[in-house]
Amino acid sequence: MKITYYGHSCFSVNVNGFNLLFDPFVTGNPAASHIDISTIPADYILISHGHQDHILDVEAIATRTGAKLISNYEIISWFKEKGIDNGHPMNIGGAFDFDFGTVKYVTAIHSSSLPDGTYGGNPGGFVITPKGLRSGFYYAGDTALSYDMKLIGETEDIEFAILPIGDNFTMGIKDALRCAEFIGTHTVVGVHYNTFPVIWIDIKKARTTFDETGKTLLLPNIGESIDI
Ligand code: NI
Ligand code: MN
Repeated sequence: MKITYYGHSCFSVNVNGFNLLFDPFVTGNPAASHIDISTIPADYILISHGHQDHILDVEAIATRTGAKLISNYEIISWFKEKGIDNGHPMNIGGAFDFDFGTVKYVTAIHSSSLPDGTYGGNPGGFVITPKGLRSGFYYAGDTALSYDMKLIGETEDIEFAILPIGDNFTMGIKDALRCAEFIGTHTVVGVHYNTFPVIWIDIKKARTTFDETGKTLLLPNIGESIDI
């Protein structure tokens, strides 16, 4: 699968020819100033929770592309009131078969309010299993490490995971490594780091921490595409 990183927790994955864009926050990220959001393709936009650093560019990209939003009920309802009514509401523990594959919306330990103070429902993560494949990938969203991740490992076949590693607001690198163990994957793409001073990490140390356990930490540059 081809993954393109757009900075912070924004990335897209091409699944069976469909572009799935996650948590678009680009125009508010100085490190991503070279990314023009009018060039980002999207057939679906998946939103983990309501915080600004995950939804800032949803409206612009959804309006231009007509992409379908996938998130929890509260967030889909909020966008509907703003006039973006091509949305698919889900809630924790539920799975649904889309044309590209199956999406399961899973728990995240975090908070979730929308920029105007509206309740954003419970924050979540996504397990995506592409149509025709037995295994898929897990995007954790913003979350702490939790034992629920063991359940994901027991019930889902996870090829790779996209995990926050910046600490302070989410898991840090050690907990991300533990999460990878819980879900049974060797390959992690790190996100949600080095955007703001409080989530700056020592990249060399992060890589060493992973290397020592035989797991792989992928940190693509902003704008870079990688194949997993
Ligand atoms: Ni957040
Ligand atoms: Mn965040």
